[in-house]
Amino acid sequence: MTDVISLQTLRKEYGSVVAVEGVDLEVAEGELIVLLGPSGCGKSTTLRMVAGLETITSGRLLIGGRDVTKLEPKDRDIAMVFQNYALYPHKTIRANMAFGLRMRGMGAAEAAERVASAADMLDIAHLLDRKPAQLSGGQMQRVALGRALVRDPAVFLLDEPLSNLDAKLRARMREEIALLQKRIGKAMLYVTHDQTEAMTLADRIVIMRDGHVQQIGSPLEVYDRPANAFVAGFIGSPEMNLVPATLDAGQLTLADGVRLSAPEDVGAGPVIAGIRPEALEPSDEGAPFVIQGVEQLGSQTLFIGTLGPHRIRVLAGRRDDLVAGATIPVAAAPSAIHLFDPTTNQRMGSTV
Ligand SMILES: Nc1ncnc2c1ncn2[C@@H]1O[C@H](COP(=O)(O)OP(=O)(O)O)[C@@H](O)[C@H]1O
Ligand SMILES: [Mg+2]
Repeated sequence: MTDVISLQTLRKEYGSVVAVEGVDLEVAEGELIVLLGPSGCGKSTTLRMVAGLETITSGRLLIGGRDVTKLEPKDRDIAMVFQNYALYPHKTIRANMAFGLRMRGMGAAEAAERVASAADMLDIAHLLDRKPAQLSGGQMQRVALGRALVRDPAVFLLDEPLSNLDAKLRARMREEIALLQKRIGKAMLYVTHDQTEAMTLADRIVIMRDGHVQQIGSPLEVYDRPANAFVAGFIGSPEMNLVPATLDAGQLTLADGVRLSAPEDVGAGPVIAGIRPEALEPSDEGAPFVIQGVEQLGSQTLFIGTLGPHRIRVLAGRRDDLVAGATIPVAAAPSAIHLFDPTTNQRMGSTV
């Protein structure tokens, strides 16, 4: 199968600032790739290099097997959706959606047909004669998507398209984008800082930090086997507990008298132990967890407290019998404990 997009060591410098160190990524046909990372890590810059809105300092970009590194945006067979919608306020929705097509010389009849078909798909046919100011945020986001859809590009590029929407609408639009993308079967590069959005949408996630790619993998791959402590802390909600500890003969010592069973296949010495809140459970054999706070989430209960000197979180099935001040023993299955090198932050033990 040929890759639709190939990013080959794409690098971006702004003067002395290196915004993107060198991203390597092959995107297959129909694949939804999410670029994920904290603000300023280089996600938008990477996307904008693919779009042709930023020059590429070094590296190569192929779209559909064609070298487009130096081509204008209009010659790249891409369509981009922005966070702020970028609609013309004085044009109707219909005209907004058809504008790009007409600019490219498409006839009125064909343009109208494409607009009608995209509007149907996005359930905005009844809005076509309105102006942008007469639409809600969610409706405008649909129109912005529709404007990309009518172009029928090889690649869709979306930069934080849902961040102006409220939480409920964001979740609904997220589902719709996922369904729409599978239905049209086109490659999509989607930028977000929201790990939930990444986990729920992506076929593969590219996790970035300070212009560097940290890990590329499916949502469950990066959740189950984070490559380093940064990825471990970034993926998953509530976030993973990362605790300095000492490892010896399958025993993890977090503090005096605070021990957990650990994987056997890693040596001895100082480590960072990564334990997801949901991996810790009340257990007779466990380490003493002192509960300081209780958050009832409905189906589950989140406990905030301490193991020795370390602040940690424990996510349990619904419990209403445990209150702040109580101490309960907790433990995790050794296979659920991630170990990271305290110097390099890299994952320890057997890899892949
Ligand atoms: N036009 C620019 N000039 C100088 N530095 C920039 C410019 N655009 C982005 N940067 C810098 O590049 C880095 C990556 O930015 P960006 O790609 O926008 O991050 P993200 O989208 O992940 O929040 C940041 O340090 C940012 O300050
Ligand atoms: Mg950005």
